[in-house]
This record gives sequence, C-alpha cells and structure tokens, in this order.
Amino acid sequence: MTEKQLKELLGSLSLTEKAFQLTQAPAPYYMKDAQIAGTEVNTEISERELALMGSNLYVYGPKESRDIQKRCMDMHPHHIPMLFMMDVIHGYRTVFPTPLAMGATFDPERAEEMMRTAAAESSAAGVDVAFSPMLDLVRDARWGRVMESTGEDPYLNSVMGRAMVRGFQGNDKNEIPTGRVSSCIKHFAAYGAPEGGREYQNVELSEHTLREYYLPAYRAAIEEGADMVMSSFQTINGIPSAANRWLLRDILRDEWGFEGVVITDWAAIEELVNHGVAADLKEASLLAFKAGVDIDMCSMAYYRYLPELVEEGKISEEELDVSVMRVLKLKNKLGLFENPYKDADETRVNVVTLCPEHRAAARKAVSESLVLLKNEGNLLPLKKNHKIALIGPYVESRELHSAWAPNGKAEDAVSVREAAGELSEYSFTYASGCPMQTWDALLVHGKEHSIEDLRKSDFSEHKPEMPDTLQVQAMQKAMEADRVVLFIGEHRTMSGEAASRADISLPENQLDLLRAVAKVNRNIVTVVFCGRPLDLREVCRLSRTVVMAWLPGTEGGHGIMDVLTGKENFSGKLPMSIPVSVGQAPISYNQLATGRPKDPVRDVALYRSAYIDTPNRPLFPFGYGRSYSSFAISPVSLSTSEVTGVYDPCDRETVLLTASAEVENTSAVPGVVTVQLYIRDNTASLARPVRELRGFNRVELQPGEKRTASFDVTPSMLSFVGAEGKRVLEPGRFTIWIGEDSETENKTEFVLNGR
Ligand code: BGC
Repeated sequence: MTEKQLKELLGSLSLTEKAFQLTQAPAPYYMKDAQIAGTEVNTEISERELALMGSNLYVYGPKESRDIQKRCMDMHPHHIPMLFMMDVIHGYRTVFPTPLAMGATFDPERAEEMMRTAAAESSAAGVDVAFSPMLDLVRDARWGRVMESTGEDPYLNSVMGRAMVRGFQGNDKNEIPTGRVSSCIKHFAAYGAPEGGREYQNVELSEHTLREYYLPAYRAAIEEGADMVMSSFQTINGIPSAANRWLLRDILRDEWGFEGVVITDWAAIEELVNHGVAADLKEASLLAFKAGVDIDMCSMAYYRYLPELVEEGKISEEELDVSVMRVLKLKNKLGLFENPYKDADETRVNVVTLCPEHRAAARKAVSESLVLLKNEGNLLPLKKNHKIALIGPYVESRELHSAWAPNGKAEDAVSVREAAGELSEYSFTYASGCPMQTWDALLVHGKEHSIEDLRKSDFSEHKPEMPDTLQVQAMQKAMEADRVVLFIGEHRTMSGEAASRADISLPENQLDLLRAVAKVNRNIVTVVFCGRPLDLREVCRLSRTVVMAWLPGTEGGHGIMDVLTGKENFSGKLPMSIPVSVGQAPISYNQLATGRPKDPVRDVALYRSAYIDTPNRPLFPFGYGRSYSSFAISPVSLSTSEVTGVYDPCDRETVLLTASAEVENTSAVPGVVTVQLYIRDNTASLARPVRELRGFNRVELQPGEKRTASFDVTPSMLSFVGAEGKRVLEPGRFTIWIGEDSETENKTEFVLNGR
C-alpha cells in the first residue's frame, strides 16, 4: 500500500477499530484452548472482537495461522490482516545454543545465521514478528533469564544484537522479504538488573549506569533497523517501564529517533495496578498510552478503554492515530495487505524445518559456543585407545533446549549418547548415575519455601545417604575406565523466566554423583550444562578438565562430541564472569575504579574494596576460554602514541590510531582465538571502568601461523557518558590492552589531546 492508501484506511476506521489495532490477544483464544501457561480462555471476548484485534501472540503452524487470518479478515469490516507474533529466541524447531552460549561464540556471523534459520522456519509456520533478541545486559547469575542474553558486556551485546536483527529482518529497510520476520527487541529497559537477582524485582540504576552500560545494546539494534521494541515488566527507580514516558518517549523516540512499534510485555498494563501506580485498568491504559506504549500485549485493556479515554478528551484522536499508523505501516512493511499469510505454508514448513543446512549450522554453533575452562593433563581430546565412561543424567537427555524455546522438541534433539554411538572407533561405556531432576527439586524441602519451616528447630541427624543403585553402577563404570566424562548440570527448567536462584550450585544429587565418581577415578572431564554461570568450585576441585556446554539445543550431542573428540577445536569465551560463589553477584569485569583498590601484589584485603573471605576476582573472568591450541600475543603496538580528537556523534569515520598485536599459533593444532581489545580512560571527570571491551576479532590460525590483529581506535570508543548524561571525550592518558581475556596484562598507553 502507498502512504496515501494507508492514511485513507486509517481515516476510515472507527475509534473502536483503531483501539483494537493496538490490542494483542493470545492465540489460544482463537484456538479455543489454553496452551500458553497461565492463560485461561477468556469467554467474554466475542468472535467479532477477536477478529478486530491488530495482532495475536503464539503460532501453532501454517494451517492454523492461515485459518485464523482468513476467518478474522472475513469478519473484519475493513479486512485488515492481523500480525502473528511469537518468541523465537534461539531457533524455532532447529534450536541453536541458548543466547548466552551464542554470546560465548563472539561470532556475530554465527548469531546472524542462527536468526536467519529461525526466521526461515518461523515465518513458514506463520510468524510475522519475533520477540527477539533479548538485549538485557546481565551481571547477576541468580537471575533466571541470563541465559536469554548474550552477557555482561555492552559492546558484545551490541554487536550480537545487531547481527541478530539482521538475521531476522535481512538488510532491506523498507520491506521484510520472504523467509524473514520483523524483530522486536526486548525488554526495554534494564530488565536484567533486578535487585537481588530476583525475577520481576525493581531495578535501581543511576541514569549514568543505565546509559553507559544498559542502553547501548538496545540502541545498536534500533540503529540496525529493528521494527519493534518491547517494554520491560519491572520498575526502574520506582517507575514501571510500561508507564515510563522518559524511557519510551524521551529516550526511545526523541533521542534515538525510533519510528517503529512499542509493545508492552505480557499483561504489563494490567500489572500497573499491582505496581500500585494505577487504580484500575482504565487508568493503567491511560498511563501506558501516554508513556508511549502502542500495543497492549494481552492485558485486554486498550480495546476497552482507549475509545472512552479519547471521548473524555484524555487522549486525542491524533495521538491514537499516530500509534495505529505505526501498526499499519508494520503490516505494510511485511507485505500483509498484499499477502496476509506471508510465508505461512505447509510445503515450505516441511522443506525448511530441521533441514540439513539448519542442523549443520546449529551443530557448528554448538562447537563454537563450548568454553574450555581448564584441561589439566590434557584429558581432552578423548583418545581412541582409552576406555571412556560417559556418566551423568545429561548423557541420555535430549532436553537440550532452554525454557525459552517454545518450539524446541526433545524428540528432534541429538543426545550425547546418540552422538557418541556414531563414533564406533571409540570405546565408550554409559551410566546415568542419578536421575535428572527438574526445577522443583531446588525448592526447600521439596515444597514451597516456608519461612515457618525454616525457623523450626529440627534435631534429626543428617545421615549421609547410601549410594543408590544408579550411583553404584556409575562408580563401577568409572572404576573400569581410563577417563570419565561427566555430563551434569542444571535442568532447562532451572533457568529462564521466573527461575531466579539464590543458590547457584549444581543440583545436589549431581554433586553427589561427582563426589562418588571422584573417589574411584581422578581423570574426570566435567561437562556442565546450564543456563547461567554456576558455582563451580567443587566441580573444579574434583575434575581435571571442565567444559561449559550451556544449553546447546537440537544438535547438542553432535556439537559436544565433535569438540570432545578433537574433530573441532574449542574457541568459546565466557560472555559472563563465573563467580567464585553467589556472594560475588552481581559481578562484571568492567567495574568502576574505586578509591581503595585491592593491592594486586600483596593481595591484602584490609581497608580495601574487597571481601575478607573471598577473592575479588571471579573464578573465571569474562572473555576467558582455552583451546587445544596455544597462542602467543605480541606486545601491543600503536600507530602513534599521541593523538588529537573530539567527539562527534555523527562521525563514524575518524580513526585516531590503530592498535595491533601479532598473534601466533604456537601449537600443532589449528585453532581460532578471539583477540580482545580493552581500553581504560585513566583520568576523567568521572570514575571510569577499570577496563572496557572495545573490539574483538576471531583469528583463525594454522599451526605456527602468525597474523596481525588490528583495531582502529575511534573517538567514540574513547568517549563515555559524562555527568550531564551526554557522551563526552576527555583528553588524557588511556591504557589499551590486547589479549585473550579480560584479565590480560598485555598493555600500553597513549595520550589524547583535546582541540
Ligand atoms: C516474557 C517476554 C515474552 C512474552 C510473550 C513474557 O512473559 O517476559 O519475554 O516475549 O512473555 O511470550
């Protein structure tokens, strides 16, 4: 449709019809079932009303999408097509590693490929808009949704966020082509920083911290062209995001120029009443609309109250029109007025879903996402002449997708055992060792936390449990083996939305298994499955080799065995620090300099910013990850050590200097190393982070090969959010590091002069 036709269409809509365009209903309402958790079919909403909705949430498949679209368009007085939206977080049916694991790849091309395949599969099923990527910066492993983010660093999240938006939408700014979907980034803003790591809890952040760390990734994705933004559930400094005009209008629209559609998170308008900022649903609708929310996701509020609010003069019809126009434009960009079904097609679904190319891409992504934390005695790669016991509940499990893979199916996945079974030249034995427990096993005493129970005295003795049959079998296998590979970790239900944990250890029954196995065999490789950094102290103490496998998705078994056998090399780097214990959370490498830093040489904690019972450093830092290869990085060399520059937000060209280092593969194994660039502004008007990631390069090297990793340093990379809330660039000395992780000490300095 032309702009003129869109305006005519808008002009022909009644107030009520406009308000419906701004309301989203859950798709189960159309299917007369309630498959979305917590959703009851609302029988008060008539068929006619459902037909008027602007969008719906959740897609069942191409046939169902087409049926709903046809039925509703036939009933709609203006035959306006609906938008079908859904969470497509790390794949559709072909599930890639969870986003945190994708962060570990430090590979934007792989992230783009993931979303391209997800777009191909989901669009064929009838999805128009993916609620993804999630760009919330995360520093607190207690929060259950860290697995949905690419990690703790604003730069890494921005690069990956841009790539994922490209993967979903393609590169055409005016049209969403066949096989692509619109991207709705979320959760705006700072949902990833709840107090205490507790789900839906308030976020308390200064404007400076918000702008410096939390906002850049959302902004980058918007610059990349993301069509939609979802507001977050929680309050920031007391204001719920769905009612936060400063966030949704002043920053998002006025400062950043976002022209797309803003939607709330699930029922967030209704929740304004629970937050205590609105007396009822009508006031909540007014607050949200005035704050800048275009679409009400599933509160069923806008269609009821916006017309009234316009009639009462609280909202002008022009304001309403602006929001409706945004929705109509998105439908137009997706081509729905010409073809309301877009790519929803039975044949297409069968061709693309789980096709060999998608599976191959997912398999490669798994191998890139694994992080080798240590490999004492080179237990890995596994050797063909060894007897190897594969032990643990994750050996057989096909539940390798995260809690946010609504279309992920265990039956599509390849387990470790199945992948190992394909390797006939190896000698494997298998044992589960203990049952796989789900999230409810973590509850105190196996039931809801009861403070009363916890306060009660209880003198019953803690009896060490006798090893059960599964554990005895596992110990037997471990005893007979040269090497043990233990596949243990959190079940997928232990992370994700509403899965915050106050204790980030492995499930107790699996720790018991590790302890039992360690009694009979010291050559243990532990492969950890998880949706968050865990407390790995005991795992590290009892295992000589430790691998982070995250939640690897459909091709998990293959990807893992590819790397464990050395067919592929490790290249993953931690996207989040692994804390020593939960007491360090929140933790991130880019903390601000303090007035009393811990003395790095004497390591004394007295009157220093430190704990007396725990180190400051995490167990494994951001950016860390080993490989079968070893690399040497030369001292940093700069094209010049004195530069002159000013900050201009529109200038993306100026290069102040080039920093480089020679990287050499000093081993006999081909490999990839992610070379990382960190910068610190040593003296500024505000305390600055002790270092910040400003660039990275995946460098592939054959044995003995050398390459130069170079980074252009621009004024923007040296700038920061000043006390006034605007980016500034201040002259002075800067330190620059090039190395393999965020603790590298390979550094030099340069001076920036002002003009
Ligand atoms: C989640 C969002 C998601 C939405 C729709 C909410 O509970 O917070 O991330 O997009 O549901 O499924």
